[in-house]
Amino acid sequence: MFSVIILAAGKGERLNLGYNKVLYDIKGKTILEYSVDYFLNDSTFSDVFVVVNEKDLLHIKEVLHGKNVKFVLGGITRQASVYNALKKVNTKYVMIHDGARPFIDKSNIDKLKETVKDNACALAKKTVDSIAIHSFNKIKNYVNRESFVFLQTPQVFNTSKITKAYDLAIKNENTYCDDASLYMHELQEDVIIIEGNEFNIKLTTELDLKILEAVL
Ligand code: CTP
Ligand code: MG
Repeated sequence: MFSVIILAAGKGERLNLGYNKVLYDIKGKTILEYSVDYFLNDSTFSDVFVVVNEKDLLHIKEVLHGKNVKFVLGGITRQASVYNALKKVNTKYVMIHDGARPFIDKSNIDKLKETVKDNACALAKKTVDSIAIHSFNKIKNYVNRESFVFLQTPQVFNTSKITKAYDLAIKNENTYCDDASLYMHELQEDVIIIEGNEFNIKLTTELDLKILEAVL
């Protein structure tokens, strides 16, 4: 009933390791393997697609050797990477996940699977800090932090609807940072948010590395 698309075709430039951050090793396992293994062990996922760039293809194939995954070549942007994989999905629902988020929480996944029967759905995190609008190092305005969440992955969709949303985004030349925003804007349909586990961080900075090394 479900497929998952795990994105690993980025370059990890902000972390500046000199190689793709999803290949960073924590406790004998790469960051990418944590999510790949989770989804391979959940039998409701019939297909696990791993999206990789051409440069890393051989290396990632070696790292995931013997695991039942399907490789898809990514694109220049995250959006292009997702679109390439979406074309291969043939289950009713598809989960889309950043390979750079290795901390997967079963209860979060279960809630996503349940909610998608009625609505698209994304994990999200509330903010603890105050939020302000700024310009040239000056605060211009305050906004109510209760109105804000940070969107995370996994996000889950009805496959034919998210594919339609992607087709429209391509046709309209619209770009988005994540799939929930694309879906909501292109189809004008609701996306339900579920508060994710607080360790569901996306490896982006050195601080993230330190946290993940402690919790994985
Ligand atoms: N990603 C992808 N294809 C791209 C760009 C990103 O599959 N063209 C994936 C990354 O591998 C990552 C996820 O999308 O798992 C989230 O992207 P991000 O955290 O921005 O990773 P990178 O693009 O690799 O990092 P950076 O932006 O620092 O270069
Ligand atoms: Mg990026």
